[in-house]
Amino acid sequence: MKVLNFGSLNYDYVYKVDHMILAGETMDSYGLETHFGGKGLNQSIALAKAGVPVQHAGMVGEDGQGFLDLCKRNGVDTEFVRMVSGKSGHTIIQLDKNAQNSILLYGGSNRAITKDFVDEVLANFGKGDILLLQNEVNLLPYIIDTAYERGMRIVLNPSPYNEALDACDMGKISVFLVNEIEGAQISGENEPERILDVMAEKFPEAEVVLTLGGDGVVYRHKEQICRQGIFTIKAVDTTAAGDTFTGYFIAGMLEGTPIAQRLRRCAKASAIAVSRMGAAESIPTAQEVENTNLEEK
Ligand code: RIB
Repeated sequence: MKVLNFGSLNYDYVYKVDHMILAGETMDSYGLETHFGGKGLNQSIALAKAGVPVQHAGMVGEDGQGFLDLCKRNGVDTEFVRMVSGKSGHTIIQLDKNAQNSILLYGGSNRAITKDFVDEVLANFGKGDILLLQNEVNLLPYIIDTAYERGMRIVLNPSPYNEALDACDMGKISVFLVNEIEGAQISGENEPERILDVMAEKFPEAEVVLTLGGDGVVYRHKEQICRQGIFTIKAVDTTAAGDTFTGYFIAGMLEGTPIAQRLRRCAKASAIAVSRMGAAESIPTAQEVENTNLEEK
């Protein structure tokens, strides 16, 4: 069984700010850091750091050698990452004193995926293989349909939520990892319990992981429900916390770790990522997660 992550790779330009800039305002920032990010890349790095062999598929621009080097250093296979003309994806991230962020995304080469490329990549995968997706590359509906036809198990983190997702056949998804906003968009409900009820009705075979920020996370599969709180840590930068959770969740799934134990390790790994600056590079290894003692809320 192989794991493929078809996803974005972004340079994150992180500006430290006093507050999120308002419409019409001009404001000084007091620091700029550049980090490797992109939901796709972060999740591949999280998988690799959790000990899962992962193949990443995607597109970087002419400025994208750094992504390939980072993947290699972390053991992410880049056979299916292509370098194309133009710029890689990037983000402008405002990071405030409370470690909250706002993210402006420029898709760049992440949006240069073609149907031929999707076919070429997915031809190497089949029944039982896992495909992880987020919503920062183009052609998501086509990727989902093609992977499903090939018998792959599809794990979707529908983030950021936008109209491109409306064209996706969500009935083909085996595992959803959603926050409250994404869960509300998919279910039409706002209360966490109702989101999970409606998703269980609409997608009866799917597992759903609903993240609730400071309130932790709830997992539901059919009638099984499991909750996990957060770990207390001094937050520095919340970027990639969710991606860390996703990577560790799939790692636990493949290891067959019971759900309560699995969610606990995901929450701990995410908390460690939040205590460090950056995205891909803030993600801890399984050994670091194991060796770090944190208080559970
Ligand atoms: O999930 C965090 C990621 O979202 C950042 O690294 C940024 O690149 C955006 O894609």
